[in-house]
Amino acid sequence: MEKKRLLYLVSSDPRVSPFDINMAYDAGFDAVIPYASIDVGMVPGLVQDIMFSRGAKGARFSSLFVSGSSVAVAEGMLRAARTTLFPPFLLGLMVDPKGGYTTAAALLARVAALCRSKGMGELGRLRILVAAGTGGVGKAAAALAARDGAAVTLTSRSRDSAEAAAREIASLFGATVEPRAAAGETDLASLAAKADVVLATGAAGAQLLSRATILSLKGPKVLADVNAVPPHGLEGVRPQDHGAEIASGLFVLGAMVVGELKFRIESSLLKDLLSAESPPVIDLQAARRRGLELEGS
Ligand SMILES: NC(=O)c1ccc[n+]([C@@H]2O[C@H](COP(=O)([O-])OP(=O)(O)OC[C@H]3O[C@@H](n4cnc5c(N)ncnc54)[C@H](OP(=O)(O)O)[C@@H]3O)[C@@H](O)[C@H]2O)c1
Repeated sequence: MEKKRLLYLVSSDPRVSPFDINMAYDAGFDAVIPYASIDVGMVPGLVQDIMFSRGAKGARFSSLFVSGSSVAVAEGMLRAARTTLFPPFLLGLMVDPKGGYTTAAALLARVAALCRSKGMGELGRLRILVAAGTGGVGKAAAALAARDGAAVTLTSRSRDSAEAAAREIASLFGATVEPRAAAGETDLASLAAKADVVLATGAAGAQLLSRATILSLKGPKVLADVNAVPPHGLEGVRPQDHGAEIASGLFVLGAMVVGELKFRIESSLLKDLLSAESPPVIDLQAARRRGLELEGS
């Protein structure tokens, strides 16, 4: 009898998100086992129990998915899992802290395609503002864009948080971004004026720029919002906007358009966990590659 395909979903948060649980069942896992409030030190024991209970072949039917709202902790858990595994007891591994990696991969793939189609050139040659970039989506998007060669500025309402995020991005992803404090809309607007691309990556329901401010910006510029919860991050950018020109040279992407690609990226990566010949390690760069493939870039 073929073994059940199990996904162990670990998170440092007190509650594991139903988003990833639902997506994993829909991708075809037979069971998804959530572990909340896990710390990095607990990962080796957990991984060993998964490995040894199912034998060398059975381990192939078991995967570990690392979620949680802290990017640094999730990366620490991935490292701990990788160093615990040894042949032939291998498990598929995937890390996507609070959906941040697959969302950032979708955001950048869609933004890059739009910039190219509007004659703005490759993302890696542009100035990118990651507004409210101290969450998982913002840090991952900033890291990917900076690694592509873009000049990236990341903001927070607090200078300390912006600097801490920039240090984390450097240490986890080897990417350099410029941290800036933007306490309110006026600061953000002057940074947005100097950027070619504005990525609004603030918390759900937090408006970052008003419509009047957005319309005062000069194009060519791409503005993208990931916040699907009203009020949106960029006022007047509708969730379903896919490249609409809201003023001369100002092209916008809405949260549902990013979300549609994020969904497909996560779903196809989960299917890789189920079907890959050898158990994969799916990290931020893997999400990025899949985003580009699915976007046809
Ligand atoms: N479209 C999709 O498919 C998709 C998928 C996943 C997530 N999302 C969305 O992506 C966004 C980012 O997610 P995340 O988990 O990275 O976000 P997050 O950690 O909840 O928030 C990001 C940052 O927003 C800032 N912020 C919080 N409240 C604010 C306010 N009232 N005004 C201005 N800034 C505020 C905070 O930065 P400072 O305190 O440092 O200023 C915070 O670190 C969210 O809107 C989320 O709903 C979208």
